[in-house]
Amino acid sequence: MGRLLMKPTTTPKTYRVKSFGCQMNVYDGERMGELLEAQGITPAPEGEDADLVVLNTCHIREKATEKVYSDIGRLVKSGEEAGKKPMIAVAGCVAQAEGEEIMARAPAVGMVVGPQAYHRLGDMVKDAAAGRRGTDTDMPEDAKFAALPARRKVAATAFLTVQEGCDKFCTYCVVPYTRGAEISRPYSDLLREAEKLVEAGARELTLLGQNVNAWSGENDKGRAIGLDGLIRALAALPDLHRIRYTTSHPNDMTEGLIAAHGEVEKLMPYLHLPVQSGSDRVLKAMNRSHTAESYLKLLDRFRAVRPDIALSGDFIVGFPGETEAEFEETLALVDEVKYAAAFSFKYSPRPGTPAASMDGQIAPQVMDERLQRLQAALNRHQLAFNEASVGKTCTVLIERKGKHPGQWLGKSPWLQSVFFEGDCAMGDLVEVELVQAGPNSLAGQLVTKVPA
Ligand code: 5AD
Ligand code: SF4
Repeated sequence: MGRLLMKPTTTPKTYRVKSFGCQMNVYDGERMGELLEAQGITPAPEGEDADLVVLNTCHIREKATEKVYSDIGRLVKSGEEAGKKPMIAVAGCVAQAEGEEIMARAPAVGMVVGPQAYHRLGDMVKDAAAGRRGTDTDMPEDAKFAALPARRKVAATAFLTVQEGCDKFCTYCVVPYTRGAEISRPYSDLLREAEKLVEAGARELTLLGQNVNAWSGENDKGRAIGLDGLIRALAALPDLHRIRYTTSHPNDMTEGLIAAHGEVEKLMPYLHLPVQSGSDRVLKAMNRSHTAESYLKLLDRFRAVRPDIALSGDFIVGFPGETEAEFEETLALVDEVKYAAAFSFKYSPRPGTPAASMDGQIAPQVMDERLQRLQAALNRHQLAFNEASVGKTCTVLIERKGKHPGQWLGKSPWLQSVFFEGDCAMGDLVEVELVQAGPNSLAGQLVTKVPA
């Protein structure tokens, strides 16, 4: 914790949280919003400048820090034009990694708060209003959740962070440094939060964790359980209809979780399981501790219990030393798995990670070319997966209105976006026949509303 003096400003009346990066940041952003609202600060109306802006940053790839400085510059400029001085908070993983430097370099920033300390945001806002700038990048174990207000209004689909942090230390990744060691939130806290979310209208929960399948805890009978046990307990909530989880690590996959996919109806047939590369040499250099073959065998076990499961993955091209032949092993793995969806990235050296100082850094144009080839293959499989869904009738959970009057957008069990028309409402679960496929969405026809 650091304290520096600045000119006093007034207490903010409105706020806006801008979250970048992963779904956990989205969750953290929502919770920071709830915390500020509990303090009487309201969301800034659309199109209006907020008195307090929280930049909830991501540090995982590319020029993250420069982006934060340019966002700060833009906020200061638009404040000057409007004759105001916004209070700026920097949160998230860039705050954790570079907090002190941000404070020193950007006097417009009133506070820096790390991902494990944002329960203190309310106090820090009060301090900043009184002219005291503050930095809090402490990592107390699991303290923030107990200190946050209860969940209130939510959409039809909500995130629930069940696990945080990472002990895997993949050699390219900053997460173990910015999010800290693996921790699992206690079972009873999670059930309570899930109940609140469902009461507030959530019909689907996505359980979040950097290594979500490493979650472990004790149920109300004192029995040690894993993520599958938690999923089974949540599935007993009558008004909760769908459960998803992300992101998993191949090494933490358990027999129980695989079995749950065959047995728990509310657990959606979708698995996001990053592989990163199809080359065993690259995987070893990444410290992934799985091979292409062990990964493929794992997927086979999921497919055996849930043949329609949609698979998704993360990929990095251009890891230091990656040869053309090794990259082609990634392409071969992609063709073998036939992913329904995927996220692919160019390797980005992260300060302080082992890979950043490895020999054989790959030229940017080689990375560009490999990424294009990989994405062409991934897009081909995604389109093929969507096309193979045409003719099926499935349940769609309505998440929002579409662009045209009477049009709705929802998600299929396989996490595909589905557009259709009908007399429906947000949060409805409806039966839709999938009639036309595009690369990123499907058109459907409403068959019937699912009885609640
Ligand atoms: N460069 C590029 N991609 C990265 N990821 C993590 N670190 C890096 C990096 N340094 C990707 C991985 C991970 C996803 C969340 O981001 O694919 O699974
Ligand atoms: Fe990063 Fe690897 Fe941990 Fe995922 S498992 S958060 S890629 S260190």
